[in-house]
Amino acid sequence: MTPRTSAYATNPLRHPEDRRLPRIAGPSGMVLFGVTGDLSRKKIMPAIYDLANRGLLPPGFSLVGFARREWADQDFAQIVHEAVKEHSRTEFREEVWRQLSEGFRFVPGDFSDDLAFDRLRRTIEELDVTRGTGGNHAFYLSIPPRFFGDVVQQLQEHGLAEERPGTWRRVVVEKPFGHDLESARELNASIGEVFPSGSVFRIDHYLGKETVQNILAMRFANSMFEPIWNANYVDHVQITMAEDIGIGGRAGYYDGIGAARDVIQNHLLQLMALIAMEEPTDFDADALRIEKQKVLAAITLPKRLDRTTARGQYAAGWSGGVKVAGFHDEEGIPASSTTETYAAITLGIDNRRWAGVPFYLRHGKRLGRRVTEVAVVFKRAPHLPFHASATEELTQNALVVRVQPDEGLTLRFGSKVPGTSMEIRDVTMDFAYGGTFTEASPEAYERLILDVLLGDPPLFPRHEEVEQSWRILDPVLEHWARQDEKGKHKPEPYAAGTWGPSSAEAMLARDGRTWRRP
Ligand code: BG6
Repeated sequence: MTPRTSAYATNPLRHPEDRRLPRIAGPSGMVLFGVTGDLSRKKIMPAIYDLANRGLLPPGFSLVGFARREWADQDFAQIVHEAVKEHSRTEFREEVWRQLSEGFRFVPGDFSDDLAFDRLRRTIEELDVTRGTGGNHAFYLSIPPRFFGDVVQQLQEHGLAEERPGTWRRVVVEKPFGHDLESARELNASIGEVFPSGSVFRIDHYLGKETVQNILAMRFANSMFEPIWNANYVDHVQITMAEDIGIGGRAGYYDGIGAARDVIQNHLLQLMALIAMEEPTDFDADALRIEKQKVLAAITLPKRLDRTTARGQYAAGWSGGVKVAGFHDEEGIPASSTTETYAAITLGIDNRRWAGVPFYLRHGKRLGRRVTEVAVVFKRAPHLPFHASATEELTQNALVVRVQPDEGLTLRFGSKVPGTSMEIRDVTMDFAYGGTFTEASPEAYERLILDVLLGDPPLFPRHEEVEQSWRILDPVLEHWARQDEKGKHKPEPYAAGTWGPSSAEAMLARDGRTWRRP
């Protein structure tokens, strides 16, 4: 949480969690590794500008880019300028830009270049003097994880990781946090050698989304959901993250990673943890993460992975009225690639609340439309005092958390169709953010970057959570790898623009269920 100061301590009306106080970052700066990457351009740089535009950054905020380019500070500023113009959420204001860009610096060099890290140290010291960044710096590693170890070592060796009294140093890491449990442990260990756990901020940008945080508000600020939030009432849960886009220019990252590692290991398992966890004693980082960790530790896989998982690869098809290529025809993807672009898995939770309730998780690229949602599907009423024909069109009650787009909640229940006979049909009741709140939702990265600068950790997964997620996923990945070796089973092709492979339909049909068509 926001650090307590003596003013807060002596005046209980100004408690740091008081939401009437604006959450503004104190003197600080950020060093960005990976400035030429997609993520920096589309998300990180625009979010920094949006924060500045909302008045949430300190006036002397500084941004240092580090990359293997022969750029001057102005070239870097130009890159940020283009990214901001193209991708920022808020309007462009010249005076905000001018003040922000005065704090931009660029340090050329690669990760093994000692002289470059010396230059970085001097740059930061200069900013502490000229911009008043106060010795407080976050190092954002938006780079492939194989470089994490080298960079944090360099930061240590050049005295950049060291916190002097009254200052802070933090490291921000982007996924993937490894490619299996073992590599995740190694990665965590190499970062942990340099930065204490409280200074490591692992980004899972789904946790920065308003609708994802609202899962906690919905569950724990209301009294009507929690009594039915268990195996007595819930039949099953479906967590869907569907994208209409393909892999775009990301073949280098995506091939060999695939749908399960890319988003199930992190975003979808985090969503599942928030849906299934017990009430935390508090909303501070420790209490929240302990509950998530507990529920992740209770997640189990079924025995028959051949029947309870499915994977696919998109083939050519149509997306938004445009003919699109199949995965194997994307630039940089070899014809032999067995990387899945669609993955579905079945999970259970071994605890009293959820025993026997399946959680179905699916994610795919090039599906029918972009939608992320969690559907909690309830059991049928134990008895229906109607003629069978009256309820032919009644399905199961459901509460759907619409994560994106059309952010909100939908409640599905049965209602009488107006007329002279009793006919009951599904209807929905909707809450839409757009129709209810006048405030626009900030981008996930705005919230998360601000939290890093404030040192506010609840929305960042702890390494135990990351390792639990790999523990859950590893047997599935190994099962698929064995299938590949045998050469008999490959990811099943599905036409772009459809809802994925038929094996995923069969997976649910075996349990007598069907996927929702959002
Ligand atoms: C990223 C994945 O974590 O999330 C991408 O690596 C995916 O493959 C992206 O496209 C989706 O994010 P969002 O916020 O658009 O749902």
